[in-house]
Amino acid sequence: MIKDTLLQAVEAGAQELQRFFNSDFKITNKDGINNPVTEADHASEKAIIGVIRSSFPDHFILSEEAGEMKQASEYKWIIDPIDGTINFANAIPICCVSIGVEYRGELVMGAVYNPFMQEMFFAEKGKGATFNGRPIHVSNKADLAKSCLVTGFPYTYLDSPNGPLQVFERFIRQGIAVRRLGSAALDLCWTAMGRFDGFYEHRLQPWDSAAGVLILEEAGGKITGFNGEAYSIYQPDILATNGVIHQEMLKVIQGV
Ligand code: IPD
Ligand code: CA
Ligand code: CA
Repeated sequence: MIKDTLLQAVEAGAQELQRFFNSDFKITNKDGINNPVTEADHASEKAIIGVIRSSFPDHFILSEEAGEMKQASEYKWIIDPIDGTINFANAIPICCVSIGVEYRGELVMGAVYNPFMQEMFFAEKGKGATFNGRPIHVSNKADLAKSCLVTGFPYTYLDSPNGPLQVFERFIRQGIAVRRLGSAALDLCWTAMGRFDGFYEHRLQPWDSAAGVLILEEAGGKITGFNGEAYSIYQPDILATNGVIHQEMLKVIQGV
């Protein structure tokens, strides 16, 4: 039942992305330099919340644009109505709808859907992760120098000590390939399916990572904070890898 609603909700959001894509929609700016929100973000969010509310009117919802809709429920839906809004606003088809579900504070289900590439990622706690219905697994690359990594940059906070630019510079100076897709949810899913070997980012929000974290874990990956500590979607920094290159990436991130 939760699964059906989750899949209907990502589909409903994705239909709004397709409706607005490459059209003349309104864009406004949030905190930070170039932190846009489009008419499509709001339309996607409304469609998603409508689907969830019609099945589960008493569940807690946390959604990027609408904020917290608190309820005394054991279930919490965590929604990013468009992850990769700058790509979306520029008609770059690397963006998605991302929805994670927590039960008693633990992630139990997640779906990330990019309708432009027809790529659907799904995971259920303890049951593995899938890409368009087929099981996926992280890569087994062991050599960091030959790895293909991905990262992202927050809209604010660029100038902190050992911040995103310094960490990025260290990887690049070692000649390691680091990509920047512009969608943290897809970064996690593409790492889960082995296109990337590792992903790190400073200052993510719970809606960026909720679904992707479960998908990556269920695909056999490893996730921690930047000190190697257990990761929670409510903390800002994330390192998500195939597990094999995790320690080596941690050292570069810490600058040791
Ligand atoms: C952003 C994307 C981007 C990441 C930013 C996020 P948005 O989400 O995930 O890849 O680098 O930190 O805020 O604004 O497109 O939903
Ligand atoms: Ca996001
Ligand atoms: Ca968003």
